[in-house]
Amino acid sequence: MSLENAAMKTRRQRAIAAGAGAMVVLAGLGLGLLPARAQNATTATDGADIYSQAGCAGCHGPNGEGGVGPALAANPDLANSALVVNQILFGGEIMPPFAAVLTDEQIVTVSNYVRSSWGNTNTTPTEIGEVTQTRTEGAPAAGG
Ligand code: HEC
Repeated sequence: MSLENAAMKTRRQRAIAAGAGAMVVLAGLGLGLLPARAQNATTATDGADIYSQAGCAGCHGPNGEGGVGPALAANPDLANSALVVNQILFGGEIMPPFAAVLTDEQIVTVSNYVRSSWGNTNTTPTEIGEVTQTRTEGAPAAGG
């Protein structure tokens, strides 16, 4: 077996351990197909539907338990609406950006869904103006 095959095998084994959703994502990473797999346009208007159909659940778990991405359940970072909006619009090191695949309304809805689910009880909801403004201003400078 070549080194490359050995590496692929190890990656796959880790993926299997991480579960089916994560497996799709890690296989996507290996093949360079991640964006097409992990960010899906959807016409859903319900928070739970956007969360599953856009691909969030594949990385963060159907119940926010985490996987490739950190747990969103009982996550104190989610109190910060700006952090959540920035993360969804522009992505992170691994998480892809959703600016091009979700509308401002969908981002508001999915933000408020994760911020009020699974033990998160954030009382100051994300609002549409915040998303519109953040989208217009663009991604924060490097390191932000
Ligand atoms: C390809 C996997 C992947 C997908 C798809 C994904 N995320 Fe993430 N997410 C991550 C990772 C990994 C991080 C940690 C930062 C980084 O490296 O991007 C993260 C970070 C976050 C954070 C910040 C968590 C914290 O503790 O600060 C939030 C909120 C979040 N994601 C929400 C979402 C939502 C909502 C969606 C769907 C619209 C989504 N993610 C889709 C992988 C993903």
